[in-house]
Amino acid sequence: MAFTSKNLERARTIVASYPRPKSAVLPLAHLAQDQDGWLSPEAMREIAVMTGIEPAEVLGTCSFYTMFKRDPVGRLVVSVCTNVTCLVTGGPEVLEHLVDRYSDDDEVFVEEVECLASCDGAPAMQVNYEFHDGLTTASAEGIIEAYKRGELVARGTSGGRLE
Ligand code: FES
Repeated sequence: MAFTSKNLERARTIVASYPRPKSAVLPLAHLAQDQDGWLSPEAMREIAVMTGIEPAEVLGTCSFYTMFKRDPVGRLVVSVCTNVTCLVTGGPEVLEHLVDRYSDDDEVFVEEVECLASCDGAPAMQVNYEFHDGLTTASAEGIIEAYKRGELVARGTSGGRLE
């Protein structure tokens, strides 16, 4: 959806902080995703207007980064690493367990990702880009359940889901 009036103010402030408006594309994409939980075509069109570029250029930029979701996802985005260090320390088992456990849960979106640069704590995952490591299948599920109960705070790609 379009930016709320409060976020439109934020967006204008972001654009004004750059010498060239098009430099604000990524911060605006984070803002839109934090507002809606994903980056909708409508949001990309609004970002294009605000930055003076074509919507296709916004799409081209944002589609490069896997953290920008171009379809609706759950409130909790769980990114499980299965790269080399995590591969040999249980990452695939954590991923398989979480995919099975949350396959019918619209609130939780589980994805497989490349190295999270947290190899010393492998196996590792992120929940809304917050790091968690030293995982077992049980501890990973326990962490997600803690987010669901509100005991842990789920933040968005730029630090918080915005109204
Ligand atoms: S290999 Fe998993 S965090 Fe680096």
